[in-house]
Amino acid sequence: MKKQYNVGIIGATGMVGQRFATLLENHPWFNVKVLAASPRSAGQTYEEAAGSRWKMTTPMPESMKNMVLLDATSDIEKIAEQVDFCFCAVDMKKDEIKVLEEKYAKAECPIVSNNSAHRFTPDVPMVVPEINPEHIEIIKAQRERLGTKRGFIAVKSNCSIQSYVPALHPLRKFGLTKVLACTYQAISGAGKNFETWPEMLDNLIPYIGGEEEKSEQEPLKVWGEIKGNEIVKAETPLITTQCLRVPVSDGHTAAVFVSFENKPSKEEILQLWKDFKGVPQELELPSAPKQFIHYFEENDRPQAKLDRNLEGGMAVSTGRLREDTQYDYKFVCLSHNTLRGAAGGGVLLAELLAAKGYFD
Ligand SMILES: NC(=O)c1ccc[n+]([C@@H]2O[C@H](COP(=O)([O-])OP(=O)(O)OC[C@H]3O[C@@H](n4cnc5c(N)ncnc54)[C@H](OP(=O)(O)O)[C@@H]3O)[C@@H](O)[C@H]2O)c1
Repeated sequence: MKKQYNVGIIGATGMVGQRFATLLENHPWFNVKVLAASPRSAGQTYEEAAGSRWKMTTPMPESMKNMVLLDATSDIEKIAEQVDFCFCAVDMKKDEIKVLEEKYAKAECPIVSNNSAHRFTPDVPMVVPEINPEHIEIIKAQRERLGTKRGFIAVKSNCSIQSYVPALHPLRKFGLTKVLACTYQAISGAGKNFETWPEMLDNLIPYIGGEEEKSEQEPLKVWGEIKGNEIVKAETPLITTQCLRVPVSDGHTAAVFVSFENKPSKEEILQLWKDFKGVPQELELPSAPKQFIHYFEENDRPQAKLDRNLEGGMAVSTGRLREDTQYDYKFVCLSHNTLRGAAGGGVLLAELLAAKGYFD
């Protein structure tokens, strides 16, 4: 791997794009060379285009303020020439995003995407780096299909599943049969804060379009296997979800119920969570949390406001593990939806790809 990679942020003016900008400001491996957004913003400096809608709690990075935004859709060749790869988080129609990301890949510019468009393309890996890092090996088959040498698309999963799938993953060896998860999702997941979405104060909305389907299907791809030129989804566990929007700025919480073929003891579950280390921890990737899953003994934890920023917002918190009357166990999980669940998860995936030589 190289010492430094030049990167672009496509969708830099958006909520996730802004998060990428702040995370990459002092990144040891990645140097932001290009910012791009819609034709509405192209030609303006980052400060002109995004200054008044800056949603991060830290200021816009000085080094990026005067960068002139390129047009994400018409400047593809120009962008591809200047970078080793791009992060992508854009608000466009799914079909348009699919085409756009493939155009970048075909211009030999790898894409690490936060968009959902390619999550179920069979040769596109959808990776939670601690859980299924081996899925990046499908990139060889994808490159053959696209006819590229370097270019490819890798995606991260939806933010909702990042809270409960990490906690379930080490328990799969007991034969997970059934999972019921109710998620309580922050408003930043819709690209909003309380200023831009005042209706959410003192409110709860029992519907997030498309979220339950993603929350039920995406874990099965993450737990799938490479067979030939595609990733084949796992058949178990059966997963059912309800996803609610709640008046929390950041942090998705999940209340989870699980059943097993071979029911483990509570101590076994706690030990597995404590010991769970993945490739990012072994490789000491710059954004990897040291302890991936933290368990809180206190009955009133994890709390979104207190615990979402654990280990830079990259760790997952769990609590309230106890036996249930209808399922074997129930517990609560929390993860930061725009850090671990969005841009931070994208950066960690890019670090894994860099460490494995996929950008060279
Ligand atoms: N928010 C989250 O927590 C979260 C989590 C996971 C995944 N995601 C996904 O990430 C993506 C972006 O989400 P977001 O919340 O950051 O959205 P957002 O705040 O609405 O930002 C959208 C970005 O897309 C750009 N854009 C819009 N139309 C475009 C076009 N025709 N061509 C090129 N760029 C265009 C915008 O540029 P302009 O400023 O120039 O309009 C802006 O940079 C979505 O696919 C979303 O599903 C979001």
